[in-house]
Amino acid sequence: MSPVLRRFTRPALAATVATLLLSGAAFAQKANYDEAKVPKFDLPNPLVAADGTKIETADDWRAKRRPELLDLFAREMFGKRPSVAPEKIKFEELTSDSNALGGKATRKEIRIYFDAPNKTPKADLLIYIPNDRKGPAPVFLMPNFQGNWTTTDDPGVAALDVAGRTRNANKKPDEVRGVAKSRWAFDKIVSRGYAIATVYYEEIDPDKHDGFKNGVHPLFGERSDSGDEPGSIAAWAWGLSRALDCLETLPEIDAKKAIVAGHSRLGKTALWAGAQDERFAAVISNDSGCGGAALSRREFGETVAIINKSFPHWFCENFKKYGADVDALPFDQHQLIALIAPRPVYVASATLDQWADPKGEFLSAFYADPVYRLLGTDGIGEVKEQPGPDVSVGSTIRYHLRTGKHDVQDFDWEQYLDFADETVLKR
Ligand code: GCU
Repeated sequence: MSPVLRRFTRPALAATVATLLLSGAAFAQKANYDEAKVPKFDLPNPLVAADGTKIETADDWRAKRRPELLDLFAREMFGKRPSVAPEKIKFEELTSDSNALGGKATRKEIRIYFDAPNKTPKADLLIYIPNDRKGPAPVFLMPNFQGNWTTTDDPGVAALDVAGRTRNANKKPDEVRGVAKSRWAFDKIVSRGYAIATVYYEEIDPDKHDGFKNGVHPLFGERSDSGDEPGSIAAWAWGLSRALDCLETLPEIDAKKAIVAGHSRLGKTALWAGAQDERFAAVISNDSGCGGAALSRREFGETVAIINKSFPHWFCENFKKYGADVDALPFDQHQLIALIAPRPVYVASATLDQWADPKGEFLSAFYADPVYRLLGTDGIGEVKEQPGPDVSVGSTIRYHLRTGKHDVQDFDWEQYLDFADETVLKR
């Protein structure tokens, strides 16, 4: 008997074996951080359709492969695209102040009703629009984790007691005003001529598993047991599209130049929102990791097995079966990036964020390149390998590895602003 096995008493051993048998994924539950232990794998080719047809033209991509991949990601990972009768969605301006950020910006708070006759659920969009602009402003749309009032010290932003919130639930909303402000370079963004809009993701759908009874899920109708009912990421992504509907109504905003961005679980959300909704002119994934930009087949850091166990509500039921066998996935995350093509995309990692697998995030961006080329862009440019820290590389597809932790920092924003200037503004 091996020394490891000898440490178990018999009943404990039996229980462990039973657990392992019950959960085929159990072996994969411990995160691997050793590059030498990354399994060998073949990535599915984005330019070969499920029936084996080679995708050789932009028309083939649009007519055949893009819809097929969108459908696969919906059925097997995020759940099908939710829908709500458009007439139920209404917007109401709550506040507008043209003297925000020391006079540089106009701040607006606009309430989005997802089911207007019932006034709930709803989510408030906080927007800063540069006052110094020649026409409608391009805009970043980025959801936040803890409430609009945590992104800034600006006392004009309402602090709300959001029902069902999971973060800071034991604190009064006002006690956390500004706690996340280091992630929100509002001044920098507005000074560069961009508007920034943010929405508290838990107003769209609280981040807890309650059988999809809270937030916007009940609006999507009876849930079937088809395995492809939308999880939380699908709901948040849907909410971002409604936020874009709202931005489209504002004459001060150029909604054709809307860049959807997100950090971490909200980076996964931004990718899925941008893949589906082609009105987004560009997409930014900040440290999105497993289920976002990172290749699932590398099983480095967080894995499909681990994420499904820790966050069972984020993805659809069908995704669960892949924890034990990622090679059976009919796609990998480079194809999620490819679904954004030909629109510009930025994938960012951080050196200390090994949980999110920076190399896997880079490789997804890299392997999306053939689709970007087929669609007539220069893709990732001349880049052949993952760059060292703190340089931004690529072209229509961009990438950087920031020094430091899992976070959004000024360095990240500086790259995103340059990227937006060089891609979205020049198109
Ligand atoms: C956890 C989770 C990640 C996620 C992150 C976040 O670490 O495992 O997948 O990206 O939370 O959203 O902050």
